[in-house]
Amino acid sequence: MNKLFINISELLTMDYSTSSLRGSNMNQLNIIKDAYLLVQDGKVAEYGSMNDAFSITGDTSDIIDCKGKMITPGLVDSHTHLVFGGSREKEIALKLQGASYLDILKMGFGIHSTVEATRKASCMELAQKAETVVHTMNAFGVTTIECKSGYGLDEETELKQLCAVDKINTASTLVKTYLGAHVIPKDKTSTEHLEECKKFIQKHKDQFTFVDIFTEDSVFNLEESKDFLEFAQEEGLKVKIHADEIVALGAAEMAAEIGSASADHLIATEISGIKELAKTDTVCNLLPATSFYLNKPYAKAREMIDSNCIVSLSTDYNPGSSPCENIQFVMNLALLKYKMTPAEIWNAVTVNAAYNLGVEKGSLKVGNDADIVIWNCDNHEYPLYHNAVNDVDKVYINGILIRENLK
Ligand code: NIG
Ligand code: FE
Repeated sequence: MNKLFINISELLTMDYSTSSLRGSNMNQLNIIKDAYLLVQDGKVAEYGSMNDAFSITGDTSDIIDCKGKMITPGLVDSHTHLVFGGSREKEIALKLQGASYLDILKMGFGIHSTVEATRKASCMELAQKAETVVHTMNAFGVTTIECKSGYGLDEETELKQLCAVDKINTASTLVKTYLGAHVIPKDKTSTEHLEECKKFIQKHKDQFTFVDIFTEDSVFNLEESKDFLEFAQEEGLKVKIHADEIVALGAAEMAAEIGSASADHLIATEISGIKELAKTDTVCNLLPATSFYLNKPYAKAREMIDSNCIVSLSTDYNPGSSPCENIQFVMNLALLKYKMTPAEIWNAVTVNAAYNLGVEKGSLKVGNDADIVIWNCDNHEYPLYHNAVNDVDKVYINGILIRENLK
């Protein structure tokens, strides 16, 4: 089945010779103006200028006239805590009284409250709740989503969370990460818990692609995090780190040293850590909606790009520090707070985020899955400037229309 998209004002292909862009290369953007895009059997078959569209052969019965709108690849959200029970609006009062994120955690709430709610929920309940979130993310233009566990802590509930991801009814690509080391359970020491997590990895490593840990003051320290992640690597898994979100413990440097796929947050990371990341292929995965929600400083994105790092952007969707599915809000913040350029931002939510997850997504290379977004505008700067409104018109996954937003 073919689909021919015509009269595209700007086609952002993200079709580069490298699978990620770093430093000043992030400021390039392959744009074809007044373009067409041909999809065959769910894959990108060809694209080009409308002037050359007459040469298209074969069945083009399904023609979609974009009437001067922009098309990009489906966006990639490479850091989310998609599956969990309950919500945490009851913590608003504590926040308003001045309690910080870590204060609330130390009081026994925060992540602990979500663990309790997640343990109570059935796998189907978790899957249905997460499915609604996936649909919302799709509406904002996201078609590939990383999904972390980490609200079970015990074997049974962590498995339930991972299995809930498999039960979500969606055409989106979902990539699973085991985050059993999200917090120290109330009834265990960190050493006891990490030993259990290691056993979990050995037993269930076919259930996920990545292993992650929350390296933070009063959570897991640097030494135990490094030992844990190296264990995961020896088991053949790729790793990620919640690094320097609140306190800089040196997690950025450690991520660079062990060759982590990504170092996420990096809010408190100093220039020395940035320099180490810049020497490696570890992606700096920045989550500005979390800085916004926790009223924290913004990561030094400009310094990262200017130092030659690979930068991606994600929502960090979770019930505590970022109850936000909206990647366009993240892109708006990246412009205003990180001072990233429009080109850098589009690359950060497509090709670099896909590289971070190790998936062939985020680009309209010929042969790639036709995950496509039609936007309600004619140029790529507009959605970054237009705030707090969804600028997506239609979303296709494997060439099939999965979402049409009301205007
Ligand atoms: O990325 N900091 C650790 N994990 C999440 C928050 C999880 C939660 O509060 O439920 C984060 O900020
Ligand atoms: Fe997170």
